[in-house]
Amino acid sequence: MILDKMLEGVPSHARNKVEETLDNVSVMMQVKNPKVARSMAPSAVRGLFLKQGKRSESVKMQANHQTHFDLTYAMDFPEMQELYRRAVENQWDGNKDLDWSTHVDPMNPEIPIINPDFMPFDGLGDYGIKLNKKEQATANYSLVTWMLSQFMHGEQGALYASAQVTESVGWMDGKFYGATQVMDEGRHLEVFLRYLDTKLEKTYQINDNLFVIIDDLMTDSRWDIKFLGMQIMVEGLALGAFSTLHNNTQEPLLRNLLKYVIQDEARHVHYGVLALKEHFSTGITDAERREREDWAFEVALLMRNRFMGHEVYEEQFEGLMTRRQWNKFILESPAMQRFRQQMFKRLIPNLDYIGLLSPRMQRHYEQAGLWSFKDGKNASQLTENDLLIDLQ
Ligand SMILES: [Fe+2]
Ligand SMILES: [Fe+2]
Repeated sequence: MILDKMLEGVPSHARNKVEETLDNVSVMMQVKNPKVARSMAPSAVRGLFLKQGKRSESVKMQANHQTHFDLTYAMDFPEMQELYRRAVENQWDGNKDLDWSTHVDPMNPEIPIINPDFMPFDGLGDYGIKLNKKEQATANYSLVTWMLSQFMHGEQGALYASAQVTESVGWMDGKFYGATQVMDEGRHLEVFLRYLDTKLEKTYQINDNLFVIIDDLMTDSRWDIKFLGMQIMVEGLALGAFSTLHNNTQEPLLRNLLKYVIQDEARHVHYGVLALKEHFSTGITDAERREREDWAFEVALLMRNRFMGHEVYEEQFEGLMTRRQWNKFILESPAMQRFRQQMFKRLIPNLDYIGLLSPRMQRHYEQAGLWSFKDGKNASQLTENDLLIDLQ
């Protein structure tokens, strides 16, 4: 490769930065729909190039949406009412319902924090890297801590997005339901933060790509894009990630915590598909639909290709292998395959159900290898119990 030749002899940290910048530029170049590229560009600049998620202790994101104050108080969305009832009945207490007295030792091979086959560290031998058992355990501990840190950052985003959506949504029943989701997301933030703080005793900064998506959702004025992004895309990503981690850890407190969170998230996606199916079938023009189809596709690709634990790479592997080698190692790992499988098996049927997989989009999804997920069950056909049966 020409790039490899050019970067020969460049110190590893500088080389990582060059590869990262090229990576980020190519992400933005790949967005095909100019309207979608324009709407995402400010967030991409803030997240990928200015690295606002990493450079200070807090970030101000300008909200631009309108609050819909309902003076009719019409309760005319029975499915949403039913979802609200279920959400009220199934509230739980992160303090009482989880056993925080559990002793967690992420380095204990008897109760692996992540199953040993999750990351194929032996494959690093191709790059001249040999990790002994203790180094593998340390790398696994870092990866789990990185994942849970991203869950925590994502939950903070979900807390604010659900609050914004509760303000903007036009159905009274949706506002009631939204209030329960705000409570759910607050509780999720609480339990992930507590687990990281008291059990793993370490956190990672927010991943730049996650920052871009959250910043984009916080600042977009269109309530249905916010809704699509948070309730369908990010919740779908979260469900995939939570169940992948649940199925690959033996640590009992973490398994239980994830099980509780997954039941709530299933309702959140259900809310998203109910609201958007209704809105997309009556409330938008063809041009607006095309823009939303393109937006969803671009975000799906971002989620598929961009969460590769670079913060762990920079901490532990920079200098031992290049960033591109790390990307290849992660993308081809069984862990990533399982995660993608879990995520897209839920996400794609939902996009179909709300009407965003038109014949125009088929070719794009086929090329990305995602079309085969289309005929699975969507969130309106799945109960919390169905999702629990899926857990191992
Ligand atoms: Fe959540
Ligand atoms: Fe959620």
